[in-house]
Amino acid sequence: MSVLRLIQFTDPHLYRSETETLRGIATLPALKAALADAQQSSAWPPEVVLVTGDLVQDDPGGYAHIRRVFGSLGMPVLCIPGNHDDPAVMHRELGADPFTVGGFSDFGAWRIVLLDSCLPGSASGRLSEKTLAQLDHALRAADGRHCLVTLHHHPVPMSSRWLDRVGLDNAEEFWNVIDRHHNVRAILWGHVHQSYEGLRRDVRLLATPSTCAQFVPHADEFAVDRRPPAYRTLELQSDGSLLTEVVWVEKRVVGSSHSVCSAA
Ligand SMILES: [Fe+2]
Repeated sequence: MSVLRLIQFTDPHLYRSETETLRGIATLPALKAALADAQQSSAWPPEVVLVTGDLVQDDPGGYAHIRRVFGSLGMPVLCIPGNHDDPAVMHRELGADPFTVGGFSDFGAWRIVLLDSCLPGSASGRLSEKTLAQLDHALRAADGRHCLVTLHHHPVPMSSRWLDRVGLDNAEEFWNVIDRHHNVRAILWGHVHQSYEGLRRDVRLLATPSTCAQFVPHADEFAVDRRPPAYRTLELQSDGSLLTEVVWVEKRVVGSSHSVCSAA
């Protein structure tokens, strides 16, 4: 395998109800529309699907939809929790193939590391001492593989006052571990409901918009963006480089799977 193709869906914020809306968008139909868009694109099929947190909106009933939507695609589905997930429930609900929650997974020349950055009762994130040690071990024992590190919370400022109050609290400790290694090629997160691309010491930094509502970039106060749902495609090359693109799903679904309109 010379190229490893991934598709990342993030922050679907599902409910048990199939028609429940969040910020004007019916979250399950929006996720299904994003997946359908990906399935009709040249990026399909990927080798791996990534779902990077806030799988549900504080409603454990939403995980059954994750199983139904992603469970029969015929490929591994790697998941991490976000601040609206319950990590223990998520491990239980997504505890069987094709789902993997946390740890790391190897695919050819690449290792994908899945970090739990949840801080119970907080919208902010934090990596525990144990998780930082697991990250250090996963990078040290990667056996020549390139590494893609995923977490829910942003480890760099997003230049957005309200969002930067709910990022990764101990980002400095995270970077201390990352900087001890030379095999990390990219860091990928959700949480911020907007697209971001940066570079830090040759490491690509990537954030991906939600499959439902987005947040206005660089905003001082919380504000919902009118941009549509989105997902990210990644092509990880065997030389450690990567190609990536955010795909905006221009048709957004509001209220039911049959009505399509713009929403605030
Ligand atoms: Fe979210």
